[in-house]
Amino acid sequence: MARTSLLSLLLFPLLLAGCSAQEDIRSPPSVLKPDRPDTRYISGGSDFQLECEAEGKPQPTYKWWRDEQPVEITDKVSVDAQTGLLSITNYNSYEHDGEYMCIASNEFKNPSGPPNTASSFSPIIKLLEARMNINSGEDKKLTGTEYSYFMIPCSYEGQAVVADVSINWFQGSRTNQLKEFDNDRIYVDTDGNLHFTYLKSSDRSKPTEKYRCGIGSTQVSMIVLSNGNELAVTEVLNPTPRKPILKYDNSGVRVRRFTTATLECLFGGYDPDPSQPHVPMTEWLGKDYRPIVPGGKYQISEDTRRLTITNIQEEDEGDYYCKGKNSVGETDLNTVTLDVTSEPLWEPEGAPADTTVPEGENAIFNCNARSTIDETPPQSPIWYINSEQTGSHTDPSKYLISADKKRLTVLSVRKATDILCVQCKVVNEEGTTWGDGCLNVILGIDITYQPPEKQEIVYGDTIDLTVRATTDPSIKTLNYEWLFDNETYVTTPPYAIMGQDRYTYINTSLLNNDEYKSVAGLYTCEIAHNFQRKAVNVEVVLVDKPVVVPVTASAGFPMWIIALIVGILFLIIIIIIIICVICRKKQEGDYNVDKKETGAGLDPKKELMEKGFDDYSRPDPADFEYGDKPRRELPYDEDAPLVGEDTKSLGEYSEDEEARFFNEDGSFIGQYHKKDPTRPPPPPNESNI
Ligand SMILES: *[C@@H]1O[C@H](CO)[C@@H](O)[C@H](O)[C@H]1NC(C)=O
Ligand SMILES: *[C@@H]1O[C@H](CO)[C@@H](O)[C@H](O)[C@H]1NC(C)=O
Repeated sequence: MARTSLLSLLLFPLLLAGCSAQEDIRSPPSVLKPDRPDTRYISGGSDFQLECEAEGKPQPTYKWWRDEQPVEITDKVSVDAQTGLLSITNYNSYEHDGEYMCIASNEFKNPSGPPNTASSFSPIIKLLEARMNINSGEDKKLTGTEYSYFMIPCSYEGQAVVADVSINWFQGSRTNQLKEFDNDRIYVDTDGNLHFTYLKSSDRSKPTEKYRCGIGSTQVSMIVLSNGNELAVTEVLNPTPRKPILKYDNSGVRVRRFTTATLECLFGGYDPDPSQPHVPMTEWLGKDYRPIVPGGKYQISEDTRRLTITNIQEEDEGDYYCKGKNSVGETDLNTVTLDVTSEPLWEPEGAPADTTVPEGENAIFNCNARSTIDETPPQSPIWYINSEQTGSHTDPSKYLISADKKRLTVLSVRKATDILCVQCKVVNEEGTTWGDGCLNVILGIDITYQPPEKQEIVYGDTIDLTVRATTDPSIKTLNYEWLFDNETYVTTPPYAIMGQDRYTYINTSLLNNDEYKSVAGLYTCEIAHNFQRKAVNVEVVLVDKPVVVPVTASAGFPMWIIALIVGILFLIIIIIIIICVICRKKQEGDYNVDKKETGAGLDPKKELMEKGFDDYSRPDPADFEYGDKPRRELPYDEDAPLVGEDTKSLGEYSEDEEARFFNEDGSFIGQYHKKDPTRPPPPPNESNI
C-alpha cells in the first residue's frame, strides 16, 4: 500500500503537467446584444448600423441574417465579422426592410479531426423604412341634426409605417387644427374618429373648412390630410332633454402583454339644464362590477370616456363595464371586453436553456410555449442546430426530437464534436418567439485513483481512503465529501489523516479499542462539481474481533467487578468492626445506658413519649459512674456532663463537640452532653464509625 501511494506521488506532478499543457476550455457563444426583439423605423435614405455582441471561448465571430437568409453584402451593406457591426448606407425599404438576426459562431479546433462550430442567434430586430403612404379618399357631404349625436370617421387608404402616429382634426387646411372641443362635447377616439356628443348648428362647415383628419408623425415630420367632410346641421327648435345612449365603444380591443390598454365608451345625450353637465358622464366598473378607483394600474381620463390600464398582463383580460349618466337618466351597464394577446409565451422551464453536460451524458433542450388565454395555441416548434433548420439531414443517432417537437435531446455528448447551440421557433397568430440555448460539454469526473473496494484489516493495519479525480480544466474546484455511518464529513472521515496529494488513510495502531471498532463499515466518497457527481465506495471489515489490547486494558476493565470488590471489602470491614465491638463489650461487662436508666427507676421510653425531644429529663447524676474523675456541678438546665468510658460504644458518635445517645434499638435517649474538656479528644476516625 505504501508503495502504491509513493508511486502515485511521483506520477502526480507528471499528470498535472500533462493536463496544463492541453488545457482546453471551451464555451459556446452567448449573444449579449441585441438583448430583446425590437422594431426600428429608419428614415429613407439615411445610413443605419446595428450592433451585435457575443461572448464565448474562443471569441465568436459574426454574421447577419435577413429573413432567415444571409444578408447580401453589397456596396451598400457590409458586415464586420470581428465586431459584429452591420452597416447599411442609403436605407431603402425595398432593399433593406426585413427581420434581422445576428449569428455568433465560434470554432473549436480539434487536434485530430475536423473543427467543431457552435452558432447562436440574437433576438430579431425588424427594420422598416419610416414612411406614410396615405391616399386621401373622396370628399363627402354629411348631414346631422342639432342636439343629436354625430360622428365623422377618419378614413384613409394606405399605411403609416412610423414609430409614432397621431391623429388630429383640421378644418380646411393643415394650419387650422381643431383645438376647441367645447367642454368635451367633441371627442376624438383612439382610432381617430371625430364624435359630437350632440351637434350644434355652429358645427356646420363652411365650404372652405371641410373637416379632415390628419395622420401625423414627428419621426418623419409629416402630416397627411384625409378626405374633406362637409357637414350640414339641421336645426331643431325647442330641444328636449335626451337620456344618455351608448354611441361608441372599443370592446374587443386586442392589447399585447406589457403594453397599455385604453378602453373607451362614448355616450350621446343632451341636457338643456344649464346647472347640469351638458354631456353625459361615464362611470367605469371593473371585472368584479365594482367602480374603478383611479390610481396605480388604472387611470380615467378627465372627460371620463377612457379607462387606461398599464402594464397589461394575462389576468387583465376580461369584461369591463361603462355606464352613461346625465340628469335625465342613466344607461344600463355596457360591456367592454379586453383581449390580451401575445406571441407565444414560454411555459415555466419551457425555453431552451444553456446547459453544461459532462461527456457521455445526454443534453436536453425544451421548447414549450403557449398562447395567452382563449387564443389559438402555437404551431409545433421548429428546431435549428447551430442556426441550421433540422430535417431529414439531421443525424438521428445524435439528435432526438420528441413527437410533439417540444424536446430535443443530444445523445451521449462529446467535447470534441458536440459543443453547439440549438434554436427553436414557435409561431402563433400574434407573432414568433425564438428560443436559443447552448450546450457546453466538459470532460467528466475521472477517478484516477481509488482504494480497494473491500479492505479486511486487523488492528495495526492502515486503511487506505485515498481518492483522486480529475475533470475539465474549466472546473476550478472539485469537492470531495465523505459519507460514513449516516454522517457527512467535508474533507476526511473520522480518524483519517490526509497527507500529500490527497493520500488519505486511517492508522489503526493510533486508535484505542472503541475507536478501532468504530472504523468498520461502508465509506462513500462523493466527488462533485456543479455539473456532475461521482461516488467511490470503500467497505472496511475488521477481521480480528476487537480484543482487550494490553495498552488500553485499564479503560476496558469492567466497572461492575470493581464495584463488587469494593462491596465485599466493605462488608468484611463491617463484620470485623462488629466482632471487635462485641469482644470489647464482653471484656467491660454489661454496660448499657438503657439498663442503667432502667436501673435508676426511670423509664426512658415512657419519658420520651411524654416529653418528646424538647424537654430533657435528667437522671440523677448519682446513678452514673464517674470513675475517678471529679464531678462538676452545672446549672440545672445545662446538659449533664455525661462522660463515660464508653464514648466508643455503638450508636454513639461525637460531632462538633457533642455526642448523642441512642438506645441499641436506635431511639434517642434524650441526653445531650458536653464532652469533658479535660479529656483528650478521641482519635478522629473513631468518632465517625
Ligand atoms: C440516517 O439519518 C437520518 C436522519 O438523520 C435518519 O432518518 C435515518 O434513519 C438514518 N439512517 C440510518 C441507517 O441510521
Ligand atoms: C501508524 O502509527 C504507528 C504508531 O504511531 C507508527 O509507528 C506507524 O509508522 C504509523 N503507520 C503509518 C503508516 O503511518
